[in-house]
Amino acid sequence: SLSIQMLRRKLTEVRRMSSGRGLMANSSQFTVEGKPFRILGGSIHYFRVPKAHWEDRLLKMKACGLNTLTTYVPWNLHEPERGMFNFQDQLDLKAYICLAAKLGLWVILRPGPYICAEWDLGGLPSWLLQDKHMQLRTTYPGFVSAVNAYFDKLIPLIKHLMFQGGGPIIAVQVENEYGSYAKDDKYMAFIKNCLLSRGITELLLTSDNWEGLKCGGVEEGIPGVLDTLPQRPLMVMEYWSGWFDVWGENHHIFQADDMLAVVSEILERGVSINLYMFHGGSSFGFMNGAMDFGTYKSQVNSYDYDAPLSEAGDYTPKYHVLRTLFNFSSGIQFIVDVMLFCVPGRHISLCLSAEPLPDVPSLQKRSAYHPVDVQQYLCLWDTLRFQLKSEKPINMENLPVNNNNGQSYGYTLYETTITSGGTLHSMNNIRDRALVFVDRQPVGSLNYKTQELTIPDGKRTLTLLVENCGRVNYGKALDNQRKGLVGDITLNNAPLRDFTIYCLDMRPSFMKRLSSAPWKSVPHKPSFPGFFQATLHVEESPGDTFLNMSDWGKGVVLINGQNLGRHWFIGPQHYLYVPGPWLRRGENQIIVFEEHKSEEKLVFAENPDHGKTIDVYKLPFCTLL
Ligand SMILES: *[C@@H]1O[C@H](CO)[C@@H](O)[C@H](O)[C@H]1NC(C)=O
Ligand SMILES: *[C@@H]1O[C@H](CO)[C@@H](O)[C@H](O)[C@H]1NC(C)=O
Ligand SMILES: *[C@@H]1O[C@H](CO)[C@@H](O)[C@H](O)[C@H]1NC(C)=O
Repeated sequence: SLSIQMLRRKLTEVRRMSSGRGLMANSSQFTVEGKPFRILGGSIHYFRVPKAHWEDRLLKMKACGLNTLTTYVPWNLHEPERGMFNFQDQLDLKAYICLAAKLGLWVILRPGPYICAEWDLGGLPSWLLQDKHMQLRTTYPGFVSAVNAYFDKLIPLIKHLMFQGGGPIIAVQVENEYGSYAKDDKYMAFIKNCLLSRGITELLLTSDNWEGLKCGGVEEGIPGVLDTLPQRPLMVMEYWSGWFDVWGENHHIFQADDMLAVVSEILERGVSINLYMFHGGSSFGFMNGAMDFGTYKSQVNSYDYDAPLSEAGDYTPKYHVLRTLFNFSSGIQFIVDVMLFCVPGRHISLCLSAEPLPDVPSLQKRSAYHPVDVQQYLCLWDTLRFQLKSEKPINMENLPVNNNNGQSYGYTLYETTITSGGTLHSMNNIRDRALVFVDRQPVGSLNYKTQELTIPDGKRTLTLLVENCGRVNYGKALDNQRKGLVGDITLNNAPLRDFTIYCLDMRPSFMKRLSSAPWKSVPHKPSFPGFFQATLHVEESPGDTFLNMSDWGKGVVLINGQNLGRHWFIGPQHYLYVPGPWLRRGENQIIVFEEHKSEEKLVFAENPDHGKTIDVYKLPFCTLL
């Protein structure tokens, strides 16, 4: 029998020889291997779905009749510190693409480097902001060299997964929505060349929205040669299946019937489509982005998106209407030859007939565990160990921590001594909000709206606990996303000096240090902020669940060291998705960092309650931006 290597070589050869290109486009039609092809695509981001659930979500996609998976690639996760790369475990992009291939899905890769995606800084690493002259998404030398170093790592990893190499990737997107940013007319050519010069020969796409189109609710991809506009749209690269949510506003929904009408019309016109999102998942931890078109608004952790599959992977009415629709239009379902490289030992199977849709996978187990008692407590002030000193305030990104890559996410605490009371003024230098303490007693908070606070008299300790609520991911405000204290704070018009600074990034090393701190039983009236600990005992193999944080105040929840994300009483999100694979049989440690208000118990729910909803279709679309 042939070896895998030989089969792979053979397949590669066949593909090179046959009219044998992957995805191609003329003015009216896509072809794969020379045969007409319609992309029925859907976006699922591997970084928003626990790895153990990837296969379940992709099988559900396949069973809905889709033939192509689209995903972004988040640079900030893959290179958390300059030159330190991570493509393992949850970030094993190669495994994700191979899984798609194994299940018979083509892949359109959107490697950015900027990805938007309601993701912190649109996926750009925060350490880029250490350079005070940095110009993101331009040919500024500091940006160019960082992109080159990243692509030198990324592209060789995925190159052999291209169609031409026997893999499933049929197209690669160049940057993302640059048309709406357009600061440097040499930049797109630079990114295109980043791909070409590293051997990417598949079809290159751009995804662009010009505001008018955006207001109509679709974005149009421009396939083919970058500077050639097609006669008519071949593909809607981002057909928005729903919408994301921001803190303090209602949960967005988009009715299945309204979606069906548009998707049907797109298909009737023979146009290809990508559903953004097919399954949104969660922006775990501090990875949410923010928007700022005059007013800063940070996004919630749930990326449910009112998509065909819910945050926890459940079927929604949209899923079922799409499945019926895609089944009906499957006259042109295709041929997916098994990717040898990805599935060693499998035969090449060229299936030329339309396949019936696979059965819908059964739903995974989900539990509402019994409420657990909050047993232990740790005052924030008892956790402050590792400190930095600085005469002037330093923004998070420039703190000399993490091998001089700065602090990327979370909270930073700035403390100094004051000799009198008076008027504290933030000078709008707080990103994004701060709790203010005098002698470690709360006196108020500062944010974009409230910039002034009266401080009582006397020689005292003044503390600002500053929270980075997420960096803007879209629009011109992208340029101005340093966090923490980004300039002077004044007391009676004199800038404060001589700070002691503590990083509270809630990362594993921080949480580990916390475990050796002096935890005690929860006092009758705990002081805030503080950490609260509970233990969840799981008898059988753990299933997914939701934590119902409705009665808590504001903070962060970690389970077995994994940062689930933020809770905030203002909503709309009150339920944090807890993936079963992050739990274990036996004892599970839950730690809540809480700023204002705790409860005696932590309560679980099988399903989230989205609360008050608002239909995006009934809004003038531009008001969303
Ligand atoms: C585009 O390609 C399709 C499929 O190969 C072909 O049928 C069609 O005639 C082509 N159209 C043009 C304008 O070349
Ligand atoms: C798909 O279409 C076929 C042929 O019309 C039909 O037999 C089958 O039941 C349909 N499947 C679904 C899931 O609608
Ligand atoms: C979540 O907690 C709130 C407040 O205790 C309660 O009113 C609500 O019913 C709970 N939700 C679920 C789904 O159990």
